[in-house]
Formats: sequence, structure tokens, C-alpha cells
Amino acid sequence: MQKTVVNSWNEWDPLKHVIVGRADDCHIPPEEPALDAKVPEDSDMRGQWGRRPQETIDRANELLDKFAAQLEARGVRVDRPNSIDHSRPVTTPDFHTDSQFGCMPPRDVLLTVGSEILEATMSYRCRWFEYLNYRPLMKQYWEEDPNFRHEAAPKPRLTDADYHPDYLSEKIGVEKRLQWAEEKFFVTTEEEPLFDAADVLRFGKDLVVQHGFTTNLKGIEWLRRHFPDHRVHTVNFPGDPYPIHIDATFTPLHPGLILNNPQRRLPKDQRALFERNGWEIVDAAQPAHNTPPPLCYSSVWLSMNVLVLDPKTVCVEKSEVYQAEQMDKLGMEVVEVDLRDAYAFGGGLHCCTADVYREGDCEDYFQ
Ligand code: NVA
Repeated sequence: MQKTVVNSWNEWDPLKHVIVGRADDCHIPPEEPALDAKVPEDSDMRGQWGRRPQETIDRANELLDKFAAQLEARGVRVDRPNSIDHSRPVTTPDFHTDSQFGCMPPRDVLLTVGSEILEATMSYRCRWFEYLNYRPLMKQYWEEDPNFRHEAAPKPRLTDADYHPDYLSEKIGVEKRLQWAEEKFFVTTEEEPLFDAADVLRFGKDLVVQHGFTTNLKGIEWLRRHFPDHRVHTVNFPGDPYPIHIDATFTPLHPGLILNNPQRRLPKDQRALFERNGWEIVDAAQPAHNTPPPLCYSSVWLSMNVLVLDPKTVCVEKSEVYQAEQMDKLGMEVVEVDLRDAYAFGGGLHCCTADVYREGDCEDYFQ
């Protein structure tokens, strides 16, 4: 019998096979337009770059290995990427960067839709070759599963024309950033299609895509044309001065229930799709921390970057006690996972994984 290895249509059906990233050789990349726009103005990461300290890499790997073992103990097959040498510079005819990023987090690069895994264009120069970390796994799935579709979106040129120079100033100020986000004026231009996979949430026949720093409207249009059997919806979250990656902002838990970051609420007209179909959008609990850990790009809202194992079970970071309490009240079984010391490597439990197989088919949840 032929074996189906790749199948995943949404964020909540029972998870059977997943990729968990590795912290090996992760770097803080040198300055570049789209990355600089995301680094908070008061961040300890401004102005420094290079290989991350070895003890932090070792600690993150320890936690990622433990998370992988926890998933395996629950019957989930876990694969790990093969790190390329991220210290190598990248030069194309259009740009140069002195180092790369890492093989974390896989959710940013790989978008699984049904039997397809699509490599995103990416929008940072330092992440242009990141798909190479996953190519050995893609090759293996392609050999194991005759129906697996391995796809790659067109590699972008990432010239200076891809970025608005207004964002390149050192001190823009949060007020101005919030105003620009409200006006949908982001660091990336509409020069060519750009998207990161982590800006996409899968709801069966519907794909919900955040328009922000890492995904532009042409990127969303590219996804629409690439997935002609899907409905593709564009969403924005005013209130986020650094809008990248939807998975610390909007978190579906199972059909009918979504957590929304209370500082980044989905506008009324965009909520209509969910509300008229009987979906409840509830404010996520407050994060347990006031600040992110050192050398971390992400906000404290990684608290809601959870991994749903099935419609009744969810992995929550161990220190995120308020988020765990809320999940419990919402009727979910909580699996605690210690991951905070790996946050700096690109995110939380959803970020550091990429779906390969969830049970279930493509369902239509909306009208
Ligand atoms: N926009 C996000 C990225 C997290 C995955 C943040 O809150 O930092």
C-alpha cells in the first residue's frame, strides 16, 4: 500500500508527525532593512551580530530535544532538520549579507497545506537559503510518499526596492510605528511577492494571512493563485508596532474558537467572517513575563504561541501560567513544555515546529 507521509489542513487536527527545529549554529545576523525594522528600538540586540553564545545554543538544543522527546512519548513522529553553515555569507547578483540566521524556527519557512509543503519566499536576506536546512527531510518525504508535493515559491530578489527607506531610521518611535501599522504602511514594498510561512494560518479550505512586515499584498496574491481551491483572506492587526508572523497574535484552538492578542485585535470588518460562522474570538490571557528573554526578537506574547496536539490538547510553555490557566478554563488539556530559554532562537512552541501530518481532511468551516 502507498504511504501518505504529508497531510495537514489546519492547526488543530490530531498531530502525528512534525518537524522540530534545532538551535545549532544560529546567528544574530548583521543589519539589513527588514530585520532592523522588526528589532524593537530598546532591544539588547540592536547593533550586535554574530554567532549566538555557545552556552545559549546548547541550552536551547537541550530544551528542543526534550520537547521532541515529549511529543514522541505521545506517539508523534518527530523529524529534525540538518543545519547548514549559517556563518557563511550570502551573495546573489542583487544583495550581500555577511551571515545567515539558523534552522529555527521551521514554521517561518515551511507551509504545509494538505499533501504539499511549500517553501516560503522569505523576506529577510539572511533567511534566503534557510530552506536548505530542510531539504534532506523534503527529499525523504518525496521518496516515501508518491503524493507529496514539494513546492518552492519564486525566490525574491530582495534589492533595496523591496524596502521602504522610512523604516531605516534608528529611532522611529512606537507611536509612529503604530500609526504606520494602522495605515498598512509596512517596511516591505510591493516590488515583488514576499511572504513568510508563519504569516499563514490554515483553516481547511480557508487560509488566513497576515499582511505586515514579512508578507506583502503581492505575496498574498501569489498564495491565492497558488492555492486556487482555497479561499485566501487578508488580515491586519492594528496595535502591533512590529507586525510579523501571525502566531503570537491569532491562535485557533479548534473549530469555533480562536485566541486573539488583546493588544492586537482583529478589526471589526475582518472579524465578520468568523462571527457570522459562529466562531468565538476570545482575548488571550496576559503573558507571565514583562520582558522577553535576552537576545530575543519576539515579544512577550509568545505566551500564546501554543502547539495544538488535537482539539482537546494543547502544549503551553511551562512558565506561561496564565495562558495555561485560560486553556484549562476553555476545556483544553494542557501539556507543559519548558521552552523559554529557546525563545531567543526565533519563537515559541508553534514557531519551532512545522506540521507534516495531522489526521483529517480539508473541511469547509466558513460560508
Ligand atoms: N509578531 C510576533 C512574532 C512571534 C512569533 C511577536 O509578537 O514578536
